[in-house]
Amino acid sequence: MEKKNWLQLAEGTGTDLIMGQAMNLLDGVLDYKELMMGYACAIKEINTKFEVLDTEFEVRYKRNPISSIETRLKSQTSILEKMARMGIPPTRENIENTLNDIAGIRVICSYIDDIYLLADALTKQDDVTLIRRKDYISNPKPNGYRSLHLIVSVPIFFAESTKEVKAEVQIRTIAMDFWASLEHQIKYKKNVEHAEKVIARLKECADEIAHVDETMQEIRMEMDNIKEEPSDVEALYEKLRKIDINFM
Ligand code: GTP
Ligand code: MG
Repeated sequence: MEKKNWLQLAEGTGTDLIMGQAMNLLDGVLDYKELMMGYACAIKEINTKFEVLDTEFEVRYKRNPISSIETRLKSQTSILEKMARMGIPPTRENIENTLNDIAGIRVICSYIDDIYLLADALTKQDDVTLIRRKDYISNPKPNGYRSLHLIVSVPIFFAESTKEVKAEVQIRTIAMDFWASLEHQIKYKKNVEHAEKVIARLKECADEIAHVDETMQEIRMEMDNIKEEPSDVEALYEKLRKIDINFM
């Protein structure tokens, strides 16, 4: 006798209704999975773009503008929470049109000028579309938050189709990142004693950090401006060093 699968077994019984619902539910889940795949691929694309820029800088100018890169795909819970907060039904279309930060890339630099250099180098690439730019460094938030935010979209080339996918890029210095992570932790604490005092102290830290970032930048630029003519041997070693750089 031919063996029936679970769907055939359910046919004509009361369970076929449940099976139909299960199929619809699974279609929904697979649709969601496909949506998230696009964002995961956008993260990979943009991450690689930054890595390429960092490698180029290492070879050309002997320094790495990027200290580290963090990426995150927004969780299902956060997506649903945000849509609920905005009062928008969480359909695939609404999610795609409303949320810009499902794919998140955070680039941490040592120096402020590297933030702008990387942002410009990214956004002038032919396949990158800049949707929105918020400069919280020249215009810090009242709490002291500083970072450069870009909403961009990049094309993702699948086997049979191409899709434009949006991502949020946050570029900040190590010091700005240090501040933002503490501020983020405190924001979610409900029972902070003397909350106003904590907020004021954090703001003070933000101002001090901004000052340190600017001074470090100035010192580095002064050092960059000291031109030392290399000897022939030094010039040779410099070329050899470039050949030796490990790209992987
Ligand atoms: P959402 O806050 O994501 O709804 O976006 P928005 O449209 O208000 O964008 P914005 O560019 O202001 O903020 C986007 C992200 O930047 C946030 O989700 C945080 O990750 C980060 N961010 C913005 N403001 C602050 C802040 O005051 N403190 C910290 N720690 N992070 C912030
Ligand atoms: Mg967000």
